[in-house]
Amino acid sequence: MKNYKIALLPGDGIGPEVTAEAVKVVDAAGSRHGFQMQWIRYPFGAAHYNKTGEIFPDSVLAEMRLCDAMMLGAVGDPSVKPGILERGILLKLRFHFDQYINLRPACSYESVPCPVPLSKGVRIDSVVVRENTEDFYMGIGMTTQKGGADVPFQAERGLYKLTGHLSAKFVPDCEAALQIGALTRPGVERVTRHAFDLAQKRGEKEVVLASKANAVPFLYGFLDEETKRVAATYPNMALKIQNVDALCYHLARNPAGYGVILCPNLFGDIVSDLLSALTGGLGLGAGGNIGDSLSMFEPVHGSAPDIAGTGKANPLAAILCAAMMLDHIGESAGAKSIQDAVTSYLGESGAAQRPIELGGSASCHTVGDGVAKKIE
Ligand code: NAD
Ligand code: IPM
Ligand code: MN
Repeated sequence: MKNYKIALLPGDGIGPEVTAEAVKVVDAAGSRHGFQMQWIRYPFGAAHYNKTGEIFPDSVLAEMRLCDAMMLGAVGDPSVKPGILERGILLKLRFHFDQYINLRPACSYESVPCPVPLSKGVRIDSVVVRENTEDFYMGIGMTTQKGGADVPFQAERGLYKLTGHLSAKFVPDCEAALQIGALTRPGVERVTRHAFDLAQKRGEKEVVLASKANAVPFLYGFLDEETKRVAATYPNMALKIQNVDALCYHLARNPAGYGVILCPNLFGDIVSDLLSALTGGLGLGAGGNIGDSLSMFEPVHGSAPDIAGTGKANPLAAILCAAMMLDHIGESAGAKSIQDAVTSYLGESGAAQRPIELGGSASCHTVGDGVAKKIE
């Protein structure tokens, strides 16, 4: 019996609801395939913050690093100003553990209707490879009161420490905000290699880059050039650069037309929600934040405060994250059992078993139980 330590941060809103089902399903896969999880739970999120004032203590980072992987539900709650928990917990973890790849596969299921009807036999089988540490997520910016501003900034990433100075004055004077993005050669190179290696593994000949050099030339012009440079080292593969606006247009009209989509951080965030919706719903979108030390698995969706506590949350994204996590730690038979269980559950279930998001009436709990039962 193999044992693994998994850090579990259920978080806010539907986070605890969907991760509870994912834990159930992983434990079922463990019983069948001979492994056992020691789940190490962390309470961080809105309730903990509102009660104690603590967002996320640095002291837990060292013990998290000793875990084999991490699973996160979602953080963010209407009771807390946007960004405090998201940046203070989620992005802090991504940056601290240098999880530079955000891998977000989007697969359609024969039994789940897509909002854009697919031709018979055609399915969406796409994966967003999102750069996860740079771009407009550097956290560098300022708001200026009248009179302009002049502030130092710093950011720390696995690859480097960045320091600088931001100074601005508007004439005529006005209150304003500035935020800058950054991309670096090593940052672009490592994610581009990941995207090409993945496309090769999938037997594909092309990677599509979501860019926008026409409007944001410094940042995304650099992205295009650096990506081309890396792509040239893959002689049998093509790089197709597409403006992100046009990419969204083509995705909405022909969602099955893409394989690996390489995205800078912000576009990857947006494109992955769109792709999840195109496969049937956000409750199907799984993802992994992959780095060379601790990797963290979390659904594409957020804490969905509008449906928290109602049982309407679809736990399949969290369950599919669990499969990605098992693959990552080397339990690929367990991962496959989960994926197969989800496919067969969706294929065989009537309205009473189908998630509410997908047009059925099954609660989060019922769906988790049903998938776990298929694995036993
Ligand atoms: P959201 O993804 O939480 O919700 C968008 C819409 O999709 C909502 O209508 C919601 O009900 C629905 N939805 C999402 N997941 C679902 C599921 N599993 N089953 C059924 N329906 C589902 O996005 P939002 O409303 O922009 O964000 C809410 C909060 O979550 C914010 O605080 C945001 O910052 C945070 N957030 C956190 C993460 C994360 O921690 N990984 C990701 C995205 C958003
Ligand atoms: C996601 C989320 C986060 C992001 C937010 C909550 C900071 O939307 O994981 O997709 O933008 O990366
Ligand atoms: Mn997002």
